[in-house]
Amino acid sequence: MLVRVPTLYVPRYPTPPLSFPGVSVAILKVAQMGPPVLRRVAEPVDPAAIRTPAFRRVCQDLLDTMDEYDGAGLAAPQVHLSVRVVVLTLDGSEGPEVWVNPVLTPLTDRTSATYEGCLSVEGMRGRVARPARIHVRFLDDEGAERAYVLQGFPAVVAQHECDHLDGVLYIDKADPRTLAFLPEFRKFGRMDEYEDAPPEDLDDEPELGDAVIEVPADLSAAEALALAEPHLLSSEEE
Ligand code: NI
Repeated sequence: MLVRVPTLYVPRYPTPPLSFPGVSVAILKVAQMGPPVLRRVAEPVDPAAIRTPAFRRVCQDLLDTMDEYDGAGLAAPQVHLSVRVVVLTLDGSEGPEVWVNPVLTPLTDRTSATYEGCLSVEGMRGRVARPARIHVRFLDDEGAERAYVLQGFPAVVAQHECDHLDGVLYIDKADPRTLAFLPEFRKFGRMDEYEDAPPEDLDDEPELGDAVIEVPADLSAAEALALAEPHLLSSEEE
């Protein structure tokens, strides 16, 4: 992702002593666009596996790798594991989270267009329009069912990472005219600020504000939206 709010990173699972045979901190190699694992639909995780030491190790390795490369999120297929797990930071004030078998539902036709990058497509940025408000249901790293209504940047991060689980990269959805290499992006700025910007970029609808609202996981997406709506309105007005 393009922006990551710096946070004090605290490992979720304490790192075992280095003297413990066969166990150490692992920074995993992030696959660059090309291997089939980035284009495959990843397999669901058996909920019974979530609390096993092996699965916790995978989660910690994903968190450590995301932190090492300053990502806002990382999906398991990016480290060659074709399973439906993402780690991500929704909000700078909260730590990173683990989502297992996430299911996303768009809650609005309004889109939010932001510049995205991806650890698997190194050195590029491009502008992607995505639904500005979504519902997501998932299992957390203890196997508990959780759900959020997300709006703005957190909704973008969630959609970008969960797309990886279906073999989709942001460049598939980016407006090709906005793609830029990173040094040029830094030098010339956003392509949509150019005088000859594509007309669809001249969007005068105000952006929806960022919001992360946890909702009961047993609600439908529509019920969750009804519950979250008062908070979404206040964040929109900010
Ligand atoms: Ni990515």
